[in-house]
Amino acid sequence: MKIALTVNGERREADVWGGESLLFALREQLGLPGSKNACEQGECGSCSVLLDGELVCACLVLAAQADGHEVVTVEGLGTAETLHPVQEAFVEAGAVQCGFCTPGLVMATVRLLEHTPNPTDDEIREALSGNLCRCTGYQKILDAVRAAAQP
Ligand code: FES
Ligand code: FES
Repeated sequence: MKIALTVNGERREADVWGGESLLFALREQLGLPGSKNACEQGECGSCSVLLDGELVCACLVLAAQADGHEVVTVEGLGTAETLHPVQEAFVEAGAVQCGFCTPGLVMATVRLLEHTPNPTDDEIREALSGNLCRCTGYQKILDAVRAAAQP
């Protein structure tokens, strides 16, 4: 089936099969590999994107469900030359090691700060609770979110 959606501000079209995930369509059809595929079960958050402004695991959303909707991926935030302030904060805080979890954590942080500009530590932990990181021990990630909240 054909779908048409807005991705990072651009209208895009794709031909997907009924069971295809939004994550697969983004990565394999639309040329946007920033959202990572780690568990494909909604457990790790590495595939997090915004769908109509809400944080979702793209591996759990059918591509067909995104038809007519608006998606923002990590590619829509900043560029290699001009990072988004949240990306900048992750780099500055040393919150990026292997980087596999980073796009999802950045998306979750962007969503948090849009709605809660000055989050408490508990609010940060809650907002990022769906995003797993095997490298950092999370402390530097918390530092990054705190820094991004107070630029
Ligand atoms: S790949 Fe989607 S939650 Fe892990
Ligand atoms: S930096 Fe490696 S999984 Fe988070």
